[in-house]
Amino acid sequence: MVFGRHFSSLIALLYTSAGVLGHPACEKAPAGDCTYPSLINATSEQLQDGLNKGCFTSADLVKAYVERIHEVNSTLHMVLEINPDAIQIAQSLDKERKNGNTRGPLHGLPILVKDLIGTNDKMETAAGSHALVGAKVPEDSTVVAKLRESGAIILGKTSLSEWANFRSSDSSDGWNARGGQTYAAYIQNQTPSGSSSGSAVSADLGLALATLGTETYGSILWPSEKSNIVGIKPTTGLTSRHMAIPISERQDTIGPMARTVKDAAMVLQAIVGQDPKDNYTLASPFATGFPDYVAACKSSGLQGRRIGIPRNVVSHYGGKDNPVVSAFEATISEIEAAGATIVEDANFTAYEESIYSQMHSKMTALDFISNIADYLSGLKTNPNNIYSLNDIRHFTQHEPLEDYPDRDTFLWDLTLSVGLNNTSPEYWPMYQEVLRVGGDGGILGALTRQNLDAVILPTAVAPEIPAMVGSPVITVPLGVLPEGTPELKDRGVVYSAPGIPFGISFLGAKWSEEQLIGMAYAFEQRTLKRDQLRRIIEPNTELRDVL
Ligand SMILES: *[C@@H]1O[C@H](CO)[C@@H](O)[C@H](O)[C@H]1NC(C)=O
Ligand SMILES: *[C@@H]1O[C@H](CO)[C@@H](O)[C@H](O)[C@H]1NC(C)=O
Ligand SMILES: *[C@@H]1O[C@H](CO)[C@@H](O)[C@H](O)[C@H]1NC(C)=O
Ligand SMILES: *[C@@H]1O[C@H](CO)[C@@H](O)[C@H](O)[C@H]1NC(C)=O
Ligand SMILES: *[C@@H]1O[C@H](CO)[C@@H](O)[C@H](O)[C@H]1NC(C)=O
Repeated sequence: MVFGRHFSSLIALLYTSAGVLGHPACEKAPAGDCTYPSLINATSEQLQDGLNKGCFTSADLVKAYVERIHEVNSTLHMVLEINPDAIQIAQSLDKERKNGNTRGPLHGLPILVKDLIGTNDKMETAAGSHALVGAKVPEDSTVVAKLRESGAIILGKTSLSEWANFRSSDSSDGWNARGGQTYAAYIQNQTPSGSSSGSAVSADLGLALATLGTETYGSILWPSEKSNIVGIKPTTGLTSRHMAIPISERQDTIGPMARTVKDAAMVLQAIVGQDPKDNYTLASPFATGFPDYVAACKSSGLQGRRIGIPRNVVSHYGGKDNPVVSAFEATISEIEAAGATIVEDANFTAYEESIYSQMHSKMTALDFISNIADYLSGLKTNPNNIYSLNDIRHFTQHEPLEDYPDRDTFLWDLTLSVGLNNTSPEYWPMYQEVLRVGGDGGILGALTRQNLDAVILPTAVAPEIPAMVGSPVITVPLGVLPEGTPELKDRGVVYSAPGIPFGISFLGAKWSEEQLIGMAYAFEQRTLKRDQLRRIIEPNTELRDVL
């Protein structure tokens, strides 16, 4: 791309220690039939192939990824800490493989997880805040336990917008007190968006096979689009939230962020499951077996699908002069060419109401008061005695490293001033209102009225309505902002400028991930937009450098 070249001259000046682009995809080993996939776009299948042939080990893979993290972290600040036991864990998984036991497609592959997701190991689980440093979970979060069972290596913890962006009215996306400001890799000082900021940047740059993020409202989908990757926001309850730092039990969900739909599906497969410790998972229709999300990755995934466009949502976002909307419009013919029927009249009938109603944010706030107290009461150690939102707020306002008052605690102040929580009688009617607006007046009504398999939207406007009802969304890369896009900058972070990636989202009914993955895969394979974009910074270390 034109601006890719434009910015690459900047790179040479600004990022002399980090490499730029253009590694060969694979290099032949001097002997044997070994190939070494370039880690910026290596898939789990390529990595398993090399591991099974003995071309490299999981310990080598850990070494290479750790080197790559160190190459870029001083600029992008995307990883908070590396698991000090990662090499040892890799060695024991290498031994298992040597003995003929591989647990599945993630065996021996490193994965990074957001600092909200509990790990009962030497690492912190602290939402990027100093308040929870030293606080220990009594056991792994269920998703981490499942990843470990599937043979994945938990390589480290990724950076995020502090407290999953539920703190300030005037902070910046991707900032937290422990790791500072996270940046994405496509232009200088690029917003990573949030709150799963470091997870997105790390998946993009090949610092692990894939990463986990969490979403209440946009926190997987938005950072995924800004880092040109695939993000799956699962139905609330498809993946257990046990021992993950919460915002809202009715909305929170944990999902994969990866470079390809298939790798995201593979990670999703490993973390789904019913879990008595998170009873929202018991509502899934999969008590007797979950779908095969990897097998759903078929190039025929769009064939015969009915896909709606909520025109009122798109036109509220922008007209054809908006480059994201025009790229979205231009890709509709690709979806039709892949065998889908486009249904234009799939408006979210209560969308205008949702824009002016404060019910959704109020409901989220009242869940947070109750849910964070529950989480804190379950910690094994809690050195700063943080048991409530009041305690968090007090700590944050008195700890100089938390950058208060320059970054305020507005959302907590507001939440506490309401004097209610999700057990208050006032909560229920509020929640029912949110379900109506997001459900019959939103995604669910649009799907049933027109008998649709999915609706599509620019990812910028995809998250809110599904957040209200806990329904799933997948974002896939679509393009970049063109030359001439005005620069929008705040606190030194660039939110809009030429070269920043954006995505397209597929939204479906609850528990419809299998169908959505099929559609997203077919779209990805047809368009292959991810490989067309250019970064200004990439790590250089490859497997061959550590062998
Ligand atoms: C992987 O990335 C390299 C370097 O950017 C590129 O040349 C190659 O075509 C990519 N391979 C795939 C399978 O996308
Ligand atoms: C990455 O940089 C941040 C900010 O300096 C730092 O807090 C973090 O520990 C670094 N991560 C690693 C793995 O060194
Ligand atoms: C889940 O458990 C909580 C308390 O443990 C209870 O209040 C709630 O009704 C349960 N929800 C469902 C859907 O079973
Ligand atoms: C859907 O929204 C568009 C854009 O706001 C509007 O022009 C159209 O009339 C709406 N369709 C229906 C059936 O309400
Ligand atoms: C929620 O509100 C109830 C009723 O006011 C109160 O008893 C309870 O302590 C509150 N819970 C939290 C976590 O604030």
